[in-house]
Amino acid sequence: MRILLITSSYNGLCQRTHIELVSRGHEVSITLAISAEVMEHSVELFQPDLIICPFLKERVPETIWQKHLCIIIHPGIKGDRGPSSLDWAITDKLTEWGVTALEAADEMDAGDIWATATFKMRKVAKASLYRHEVTGTAIKVILEMLEKFISKSFSPEKLDYSKPDVTGTLRPLMKQPDRKINWETDTVDIIMRKINAADSFPGVLDTIGGEEFYLFGVHKEDNLRGWKPGEIIAKRHGAICRAAVDGAIWISHLKRKKIEGQSFLTRITSRNKPDYKLPATLILGVASLKDVPESPIDLLYMDKAETFKEIWYEEKNQVGYLHFNFHNGAMSTEQCQRLRLAYSEAKKRATKVIVLMGGTDFWSNGVHLNMIEVAKNAADESWRNINAIDDVVLEIINTPNQLVISAVYGSAGAGGVMMTLAADKVFARAGVMMNPHYKTMGLYGSEYWTYLLPRRVGIGRAIELTDIPVPIGMQKAKAIGLIDDTLPEEWDDYLAELSQRAEALANSADFAQQLQAKNELRNKDEALKPLSAYRAAELKRMKMNFYPSFYGGDHSYHEARYNFVHKIRPKETAAYLAKHLQLNTANFQELRKPLNY
Ligand code: COA
Repeated sequence: MRILLITSSYNGLCQRTHIELVSRGHEVSITLAISAEVMEHSVELFQPDLIICPFLKERVPETIWQKHLCIIIHPGIKGDRGPSSLDWAITDKLTEWGVTALEAADEMDAGDIWATATFKMRKVAKASLYRHEVTGTAIKVILEMLEKFISKSFSPEKLDYSKPDVTGTLRPLMKQPDRKINWETDTVDIIMRKINAADSFPGVLDTIGGEEFYLFGVHKEDNLRGWKPGEIIAKRHGAICRAAVDGAIWISHLKRKKIEGQSFLTRITSRNKPDYKLPATLILGVASLKDVPESPIDLLYMDKAETFKEIWYEEKNQVGYLHFNFHNGAMSTEQCQRLRLAYSEAKKRATKVIVLMGGTDFWSNGVHLNMIEVAKNAADESWRNINAIDDVVLEIINTPNQLVISAVYGSAGAGGVMMTLAADKVFARAGVMMNPHYKTMGLYGSEYWTYLLPRRVGIGRAIELTDIPVPIGMQKAKAIGLIDDTLPEEWDDYLAELSQRAEALANSADFAQQLQAKNELRNKDEALKPLSAYRAAELKRMKMNFYPSFYGGDHSYHEARYNFVHKIRPKETAAYLAKHLQLNTANFQELRKPLNY
């Protein structure tokens, strides 16, 4: 079947929809909803049997949905309508929420219903719910809707609020006054819910030191306390801890409110103040936090108390689990340095297996593009950051006394994917999306990928994976050897199976032989071509990306990073996604074959 995806961005849900549909043999093309004309032109060229909009903030023009079945994936239960579904569901403390597939119609979210499913709410940030529960349920709903469409015998249900199972309602856009924190009265629980409901976008607008900022990344604090609610009482690794009426919370990231339409003087004085998401202490500045005490934390944090922690460690039955949950999976120079030290500490412990857990939303997305963007010299910071992440990868490769597992529950991108491959085994949750390429960021790539990727998938596949910047699903990743096996979707099942596999490895009768074989292979590889040679060759190419004027490269990395960090929308859909655009070319039949994922 020919399916066109119309989407606001090629986000995680759209990536997963794309992969799932292609793996079922459908011919899929994608268009960004840049304008009504672009959408109409895409439909005209592709002549789809079906249109699915997995993530759409814009309206589909009537000219499209009048002629084609056009399914909107709405992150809400039956009857729910409006642009802030998840925000309200979190705010209202609902225990169950859902995803519904409905036809595009005149009234937003009021079209006929094709499929719906529910999920249990977790007390987490909106983006985390979206990346896990919403995405998983949306795929279920899309596949069910597709089956009904193929059967040709299904009649979709009209939205009828008198039916007992239609429990949703039309909710307005949630605005900043709805989200406002009242520090004098709001408890930790309420503050956390408010920040979680606005996570990723738009954030909760708040005033700190007379300036307005959006707050992101909230964490509970069990021990620190302050007298004045809202007061900053501690800082740690970029985050600030603020007192609340009944405890304290950490806020890891801030985004300065854009100065628009204000006086000339205000705009001039705020010119060099970045207005994208950054660690809170960096945004507030050293001077304004000079009296705020640093709150240290163990390198390998093993305590159970809740606090802001990016790296922590657990150990059981000779298996060490190293968690590194960096916000958005982005790893700055300093975070990489800390992770390398933590990993080398973990290596010194009497374990047989080390499991690299990453974070639950993202395992890793490579170097920290926002921190590079904000640096005085972006090229120099890129260089420091790439070397720091390379050092982490090197530390993992050189683990002679333990077997190492990468356990990928959150998705991974670019250098983050290559880093997973430094382990001896790679297990991933079945629904993970990996983006094992650097092309969209205009980079050649490092993280020893020229050693790690071909040794798993062969040279041909390595070139294919890095050349066409599309994600890979775990079914295909396993088939081509990028990962060793998949793990269950549900967190508890995932953890149970992961620890069972890790402990089985630690207790395997041939553990010593496995370790010896790994070390022998490493020595053989090193004799053939030392890791330093791989790194030097990669970094030589990266210098061209970072310092194009000195080393004869182009400026695409600096442009791509700027656009990514400032969230500048692409002007057109990338050619490798928009198959319909290729249909104009001479080799018509050849190009219409589905891409072989
Ligand atoms: N540095 C800084 N921020 C990053 C990041 C990075 N390397 N990778 C992702 N993010 C941020 C995004 O800006 C976004 O922030 P927000 O939600 O707080 O606004 C968030 O993480 C989620 O990323 P998003 O792009 O929305 O997720 P996705 O699932 O649609 O796509 C990727 C995932 C990996 C394809 C995409 O995030 C990406 O291309 N990241 C950059 C990877 C890279 O080039 N790394 C550098 C080379 S090693």
